Amino acid sequence: MSDKKVVLELKNVDKSFGPIDVLHEISLKVREGEVLCLLGDNGAGKSTLIKTLAGVHNATRGEILVDGEPVIFSGPRDAQDRGIATVHQFGGTYPLMSVGRNFFMGQEPTKGFGPFKVYDRKKANKIAVEEVQKMGITRIDDGDRLVGGLSGGERQSLAIARAVYFGARVLILDEPTAALGVKQAAHVLRIVNEAKKRGLAVIFITHQVMHAMTVGDHFAVLIRGAIAADFRKGEKTREEITDLMAGGQNMADLEQEIEGYMEAHDGHPPKVEPAE
Ligand SMILES: Nc1ncnc2c1ncn2[C@@H]1O[C@H](COP(=O)(O)OP(=O)(O)OP(=O)(O)O)[C@@H](O)[C@H]1O
Ligand SMILES: [Mg+2]
Repeated sequence: MSDKKVVLELKNVDKSFGPIDVLHEISLKVREGEVLCLLGDNGAGKSTLIKTLAGVHNATRGEILVDGEPVIFSGPRDAQDRGIATVHQFGGTYPLMSVGRNFFMGQEPTKGFGPFKVYDRKKANKIAVEEVQKMGITRIDDGDRLVGGLSGGERQSLAIARAVYFGARVLILDEPTAALGVKQAAHVLRIVNEAKKRGLAVIFITHQVMHAMTVGDHFAVLIRGAIAADFRKGEKTREEITDLMAGGQNMADLEQEIEGYMEAHDGHPPKVEPAE
């Protein structure tokens, strides 16, 4: 168990779309200063779960509590106002905007008074660069740079730094590392750790066991819309987690078999016979 404060809690949450039941009796606690890894195979219900937390969907049954108080979000804005920020893959940033603009989007600092108010580019750039650098991304040093020229990992980092700056308490990341190379993924994992150190609660969805094990304090595995396992760091081995992520199948054996084959065949994977 953890003695950290519970920021967000789900109690017996169900979500159906018409006749299709996607989530069943989900109960989960999300704590500040911790990373909760949400794992599960394709279609297990991970994105549906976080959309329900982020105000995109409403739960069909059950309760969502923020700081112990039941809430019903009227939309994503409402969830955001409660400090629940979702960072989408690629950071949800606009490629043709500058780093400074992107950081403030809609909440730009201004200078001057009344009708003479104008966007304070210098100030926006300075804050944006400072905040991103505070998260350990020192390669972004010019607020005028266009976001389109940043790497995928840098964009994610910018979006996370932005959420942190604007007071997010829960940071939801749906597969932020899926489209990234090894170095860039490491970048994002480092930022996730940084956000956690600052006391944010992070919900991190990934299909990569090593990414989950690198940052996770708490793990919840969804299988066909229900929580199949809920455990803390160190309570399960990599093999056990891999099996659970594959919906309870013994993936570890398969992985070993493939690794063994590759070792014996100059690093080549086994050939897959075309289906009849
Ligand atoms: N709006 C919707 N209407 C009907 N069914 C939906 C809707 N959204 C999701 N589903 C169904 O819910 C199930 C879970 O989908 P979800 O996107 O939550 O899975 P996931 O765990 O995020 O999968 P992946 O790892 O592939 O992203 C799927 O069977 C999907 O078809
Ligand atoms: Mg998904």
